[in-house]
Amino acid sequence: MAKITASVYTSHVPAIGAAIDLGKTQEPYWQPLFKGYEFSKQWMKDNKPDVIFLVYNDHATAFSLDMIPTFAIGTAAQFLPADEGFGPRPVPKVIGHPDLASHIAHSVIQQDFDLTIVNKMEVDHGLTVPLSLMCGQPDAWPCPVIPFAVNVVQYPVPSGQRCFNLGKAIRKAVESYDQDLKVQIWGTGGMSHQLQGPRAGLINKEFDNAFLDRLIADPQGQASVPHIDYVREAGSEGVELVMWLIARGAMDDVAGNAANSIATHAGSVRVRHRFYHVPASNTAVGHLILENI
Ligand code: DHB
Ligand code: FE
Repeated sequence: MAKITASVYTSHVPAIGAAIDLGKTQEPYWQPLFKGYEFSKQWMKDNKPDVIFLVYNDHATAFSLDMIPTFAIGTAAQFLPADEGFGPRPVPKVIGHPDLASHIAHSVIQQDFDLTIVNKMEVDHGLTVPLSLMCGQPDAWPCPVIPFAVNVVQYPVPSGQRCFNLGKAIRKAVESYDQDLKVQIWGTGGMSHQLQGPRAGLINKEFDNAFLDRLIADPQGQASVPHIDYVREAGSEGVELVMWLIARGAMDDVAGNAANSIATHAGSVRVRHRFYHVPASNTAVGHLILENI
């Protein structure tokens, strides 16, 4: 049986990818940010998954306004990095896992979530920047990746509750796969940021840290928060955070007795790493690693 071993949550700011690709990670502006991912890169080496199920949003790269799937699962054998205006990022191509992806599509659709099946797609910074942050600059990514794109760009976007429930369905799907695979689920995007209009540049540290606390310790409560609260408090692009609820929904419910505690009983999640940094480009960067015990 396949199982979900851990979840990773991280922002996906494009300028972070450029800083890595251009060798600027030790410059004073970037150094404190990348320091927060040192633990994570080692943790990835020590806890190498067999597959990463990577929840992200496409930024009008693979999907234009011509066609807007709410939830899209990548079932292809490979996914090339997209050209977002400056040429494709110089990162490895993403190797998919068509068999597990097809199994998850089958199971999750039978659990009443309508997924779009994507057999050909290029992946943008939403997917490649988290891989770079967690894996550095390898010749090949450490394992196959199943891209799972969520529409958080064009309204109507899915609610936090629907995302949380979808995470539970994905967990069921993974656990009904007959090969012994260690699967990590990643939720990406956020935290507070607004890229447009009079409030461009908005950052809300209080909201972000309360979100992290609650995602760990009371994910069901966080799932019931409506979009308008994200948009008002965390900016128009802050709504990307609903994607973190998909990953959290696939994990055990109960955290330890406090936000940063190390839970020790089965059926709970353990916080392995937590990091928060402002600024990175226009965005507050948040990062968590949770393990199922
Ligand atoms: C920025 C952040 C994003 O999440 C994104 O998709 C594009 C740009 C930024 O902070 O510049
Ligand atoms: Fe984004």
